[in-house]
Formats: sequence, structure tokens, C-alpha cells
Amino acid sequence: LAVAGAGAGALLPFLRGSDRRDAQRRQRVSRNFAELPKRPLPIPKLVDIEANGTVSLAMQKGRWEIVPGVSTQTAGFNGPYLGPTIRVRDGHDVTLSYANQWREAVAVHGHGLHVPGIVDGGPQRLIEPGGNWSPALSIRQQAGTSWYHPHTHGQSGAQTYQGLAGMIIIEDENSRDLLLPNTYGVDDLPVIVQDRTLDAAGQLVYSLHGADRDGFMGEIITVNGIAAAEARVPGGLVRLRLLNGSNARFYRFRFSDGRTFHKIATEGGFLPEPVPIQELAMLPGERNEIVVDFSDGRPTNLVSGSRPDREREPNGLDEDFEVLALRPDPNLDVSVTELPRQMNTIDRPTRVLDRPDRRFKLFMEPPSDERHRSDRRQSADHSLHTSMTINRQPMDMRVINERVRLGEWEVWEVEADRKIHPFHVHGCSFLVLSQDGRPVSDADAGWKDTVWVSDEGSTSFVVRFEHPATDDYPYMYHCHILEHEDMGMMGQFTVT
Ligand code: C2O
Ligand code: CU
Ligand code: CU
Repeated sequence: LAVAGAGAGALLPFLRGSDRRDAQRRQRVSRNFAELPKRPLPIPKLVDIEANGTVSLAMQKGRWEIVPGVSTQTAGFNGPYLGPTIRVRDGHDVTLSYANQWREAVAVHGHGLHVPGIVDGGPQRLIEPGGNWSPALSIRQQAGTSWYHPHTHGQSGAQTYQGLAGMIIIEDENSRDLLLPNTYGVDDLPVIVQDRTLDAAGQLVYSLHGADRDGFMGEIITVNGIAAAEARVPGGLVRLRLLNGSNARFYRFRFSDGRTFHKIATEGGFLPEPVPIQELAMLPGERNEIVVDFSDGRPTNLVSGSRPDREREPNGLDEDFEVLALRPDPNLDVSVTELPRQMNTIDRPTRVLDRPDRRFKLFMEPPSDERHRSDRRQSADHSLHTSMTINRQPMDMRVINERVRLGEWEVWEVEADRKIHPFHVHGCSFLVLSQDGRPVSDADAGWKDTVWVSDEGSTSFVVRFEHPATDDYPYMYHCHILEHEDMGMMGQFTVT
């Protein structure tokens, strides 16, 4: 990775001082992009696994320049930060071979994969330092964008924050036939958006218990591991595989020139047809594929924006900042100039499902003996005094919270006692029915595995599990604000 001029000294103003106020933090978030030299968007190496193939993924420590000229200690798979993009094909059997060459025990989960609990990589599947784990996966699902990241009990946030994450692209016959941009790294770009904070020595700052109750939000917005990234793209249609890989930050993506773009896929597959939109909210763990038209030759920036009508919004949505610069380059070949009209058929359950089969409520509340004293206890570590639970039960690895029947449609209804949270379920894709009393929009009417739930109503979805998960290796459902997950907002379930 080439590093442009600026030395660490010049960057000190971007680096953190420990107790700042919100306004200062917001200013830092937006200043990095404008004032740092642009560097080319790093493209994680693509590893195609053939049928019966194996890919080795070694977790290791590294050094990486999130900010140019500042060497930061990080961790990655097969490299210093993040990991390769793994491409697999529906119908193929493949093996991921993880080797832990890092200092901590790690469980690694394939988020979005429809695979049995025993190879899902939940917290029971801890890989000790020096150890290995080689799950054999039968890929039987639609084309989509998934990812892999740590799922260690109580440590998912800290470990993912160091850089341990990577993208998984699933292809199927449909995705190969559709005329969509699909040249990886050219007109089909992975866009992994994360936020990080560096201390005065240029090292990553992270603390689970020092985090705000809303989770840990960083001051530097990175794409594929670097701040102030710029991608050169062909002057035609360009596909962005957006992954919110942040621990807690929400984004409301749009383009700086306000251009319309098309959403083509949610987490678990293509939408029936491309949906034109101007903005796209994404919570941690969510993936969306969009197509942007650069045939006018004009550059634009992917930005995250606040809403002028709302002053205080959750998890960074009240901030405006740039994420990624996109520059059309006439020397790059254009492969697609028009979107297909029809992309997918979504088979909904035929049986009428009108009552929820299961209800979940996400709680973030002070323990009862603290409640009355809470005004006097507004300390910086108030997250210590907040209990994060689902249905008032904090995650306990010895407890199976739900037992689900294999192959049967169910309706799950999820709500929160306060704020907005991304709710994620392992081992499946689901179809959202309604959110806060409104039917799902066309842009969200696809297969998903992570969805927002709020305190203003409930989110309900239909789901069916095609693979078993046992008491020893159950699936998880949880809030994907990683600090909420690590503090207990998670449950376990079997499928039999
Ligand atoms: Cu992306 Cu249970 O996690
Ligand atoms: Cu998952
Ligand atoms: Cu949460």
C-alpha cells in the first residue's frame, strides 16, 4: 500500500484525547476525510474456492496504516488487517481452514451462511492460540454478500475492532446469468465501512466498558481499512457491496451530489427488481448491494448524512461525513451500462402467518438497585451499570433460550425497550413483514439476516431453518451492536 506524505506529527490533531465532548468528536469524524491525503481504496485479495476446495485463513497480528504515516498494531486474516474476500458457489462443498496465529483465543463465525450449528462458528467453537479449526461447508443458498468475523464470548467487539473480518461472496446460477457488474475490484467493489479511534501514539483505542451505552463509536471512518480512500471506477455502472462492519455506528448512505442509485440486493439475495433510492440506512452487520451510474463521467463521494429535521439520532446518524471518494476513469473498460429489470423471484410462505410464534424484547436498563440512583450516577462508565438482555435474560452459554423446529415457517416479532438495534439471527435468511406498524418497503423486501428493531413498535419477519443446530453447537440471535452483544444482548437456540 503506497503511503502519501503526511508524517505522524501533522496528524496529531486527528488523534484522540480521552474526554472530549460530542461536538468535538463529530468534527473529528468529518475532518479526517477532507484533510487527509487520499489513498487508493485497498481491495482485499479475492480467493475463489472451487468445488471441494479449501482456503487457509491464518489469524495473525500486523501493522497497518489506517491513517497515512501512522503505523498501528492490528490483526487480520492472512495479512495485517481484514482478510481476503472468499468467493464460493451455490452447490459447492468447501472447507475453511482457520489457524490461530494470534495471541487470543477466537471463535470465527460465517455471518449470513446457511450452515448447521456445528460449523457456524458460534462462541462454543473457540480456537485457542496455536490451534486450528476447519469447518466443511455445503453452500446451498442464493447469491449474496456475507462476512466472517470473531464471535468469541464477551470479546466479539474487541477482536473485530482489531481488524479480524472479511467478506464472503456467494454466487449462483442466477448471479452468473444476470448482466450486472461483476468484475471484482474493478466494477464490483467490496466496501467494508468501519470506524476507528487512534490514541496519540497511533494505536487503536477500544474499551468495552468505557464505551457509551450505545456502543463504541470511532472517530475515523475507514473503508477496507483506511481513512480517506478513493476508488477509480469505470464510467458505466458500478456495483458496491456495502458492509457495515462497524461495531456500533449506523450510517445513512447517500452521494454528495444527491444522485439516485439502485439497490439490487439485501444480505441474503437479489431483490425482485432494482429499486431506485437516494439514501440507504445501514446498521452494524447489514449488507446491501447497490449499483451506481458513472456514465456522466462525474466524480462523487459516498457520504453518510444526518436528517435536517432531526437533531438527536442514534449512533452517529446525527453526523455528516464523507466515506469514500469515487472517481470515474475513462481508461477503465465499461462492461455494463443498463440494469436488468427482473433479478429474482422470492418464494414467500403460502400458509397464512398472522400471529407471532416467538417474541423477543431487547432491554438495556440499569440493574434494579441502580434505577433510583441513576441521576446521581451519570459516570463515564455507566455502561457498567446497564444490563443488556433479551427478554430480560443475559446471554449464558449454558442456557438454550429457544428450541425451533427444522423446516417450519415461523413468525418472529422483535422490539426494544429503548433505542434502535440491529437484530441478527444465525443460520438463515428471513423476510421482513412489517416494522413499527408499516409494511416493509420494496428496498427491504428481500432476504435478510440483520434488521433494525426499535422502541416505537416492533419488527416482524418470517423465517425457516433448513439446517440443524444442537445443544452443543446452537445458533445465536443477538443485537449486532457488538458491545451490546458482548454485554449480554444475545440468546441461543437449537434447530431440530
Ligand atoms: Cu455477525 Cu452472530 O454475528
Ligand atoms: Cu451471524
Ligand atoms: Cu443493541
